[in-house]
Amino acid sequence: MPLSHQTRDPFDPKGIVRAYAHTRAGDSLMKQYRAALVGVGRMGAFIDNEVAGRGPNLPYSHSAGYEACDRTELIAGADMRADVLEKFGERYGVPLERQYTDFRQMIVTEQPDILSIATQPHQRAEVALFAIENGVKALYVEKPLCASMVEANALLEACEKRGVVLNMGTNRRWHPGYADMRAAIASGDYGRLVALTINHRGTLFNTQSHWIDTLRVLNGDAEAIWAQAYMANGPESIHGDDVVDDPYTEGLIAFENDVIAHLVARPGGHSFHAFCETAEIVALGDNRFEIRTADGEVTEIPYEPVSSTVRLIEDLVGALDSGGVPKGGIDAAYKNAEILFALLESEKRAGARVAIPLVDSTLAFRPANLGPRQPKYEPVVKA
Ligand SMILES: NC(=O)c1ccc[n+]([C@@H]2O[C@H](COP(=O)([O-])OP(=O)(O)OC[C@H]3O[C@@H](n4cnc5c(N)ncnc54)[C@H](O)[C@@H]3O)[C@@H](O)[C@H]2O)c1
Repeated sequence: MPLSHQTRDPFDPKGIVRAYAHTRAGDSLMKQYRAALVGVGRMGAFIDNEVAGRGPNLPYSHSAGYEACDRTELIAGADMRADVLEKFGERYGVPLERQYTDFRQMIVTEQPDILSIATQPHQRAEVALFAIENGVKALYVEKPLCASMVEANALLEACEKRGVVLNMGTNRRWHPGYADMRAAIASGDYGRLVALTINHRGTLFNTQSHWIDTLRVLNGDAEAIWAQAYMANGPESIHGDDVVDDPYTEGLIAFENDVIAHLVARPGGHSFHAFCETAEIVALGDNRFEIRTADGEVTEIPYEPVSSTVRLIEDLVGALDSGGVPKGGIDAAYKNAEILFALLESEKRAGARVAIPLVDSTLAFRPANLGPRQPKYEPVVKA
C-alpha cells in the first residue's frame, strides 16, 4: 500500500512520514502568510483554465495555489497590463487598491511575507533582488531562475546574505509520481542507476528548465560536472553574448556519480527513462509511472494526484515556520541555471564539453520577440 501523499515526504526515498504536518488545516494558532504576485498573467493567475484535464493537477497557477493553501492569503498583485490586473482582481478578490502597476510600490506598501514572480525570465532578477533588499523573506519564482549567470550569482548571494528562502516553479520536484520514481531508483532493487533520458522536443528556457530539474531530482540531486549541447537553431539564437531566441536543445549532462543524462528531441509528449542495471523506470507524461524489468515485466507505480503548486507553497510555508530550508531552495534553482548556461556555452563553443561549476559565463537571455501572452479567462474546451 503506498503511503498517503498528503503526509509523506517526497524527498525521502523510503517515504517516511514527516513532512507537511505544518500545513494541516484547522489549527488557528498557525500563522497566515501574506502572499503577493508580480506578473498576473498565465502562470501567475490563469493557466488553470488551459491545463485542466491535460496533465498538471489543479490548482496550478501561483494565485490558485495560494487560494487553495490553508496557510496563505493572496493580498495583492502587480502587472504592467492594467486589463489583466483587473481580471486578476475580479477572479481572486483582490481589491483595486491592492492592484499595482509598479511592483516596487506594491512590495514597499504591502510588505508581503511571500512574493511570487511569474514574469518572463529576463524580467525576474530585478524584481527578486528588489524584494530581497526590501524585506521579503520567501520567494516563489518561475523557471528558470533568471536570464544570466551574473544574475544567478547575485540572487544566490542576496538570498544567502538575507536568509531568504526561495522555491522555483519546476513543479515536478513536488510531484509525488516523480518522488515515487526516485524512490524506486534509490531503493537499489534494480541495481545502480546508469543513465537517464528525457525524450521531448522543447526549448531550453521555457521547457527544458523543467527537464533539467527533474533529471536532477531523479538522480538524487547529484552534482553535475559537465554539459555538452547541440542546438539546431543555435546559430540563429545566440548572437555574441545575447541569447535572442529560446533554443531547442539536445545534449548530455554528466554527473559526479557517473550517471549521464541525455536530452533527446522527440516530437510529441514527454517521457523520462531511468536506466538501472536490471530495470528501466519510466514516466510517460506526468500521470503514468512504471517499472519495466529486463525480462519484460511491466509494473505500474501507483500515485495519488495532488497539486504540485500547493505542495511547493506548503514547502515554503514550512521553511518560514521552522526557519529551515525548503526542498527546492536557491541551491536547486542556481544549479538548474548553471546547467542551462553550461549547455548554452557549449553551443557557443561549437559543442565543446563545458565544465560545471561554470565560471565566467557572460551569456544572457535577451529575447527579441517575447511579449506577454494573452491569458485565458475562461476554461479552454478541447475539441
Ligand atoms: N511552472 C510551469 O509549469 C509554467 C507554466 C507556464 C509558464 N511558466 C513560466 O512562467 C513565466 C511566465 O510565463 P507566462 O506564460 O505566464 O507569461 P505571461 O506573459 O502570461 O505573464 C507574464 C506577466 O508578467 C508581466 N510583467 C512582466 N514584467 C513585469 C514587471 N516588471 N512588473 C509587473 N509585471 C510584469 C507581464 O505583463 C505579464 O502579464 C515564464 O518564465 C514561464 O516559463 C511556468
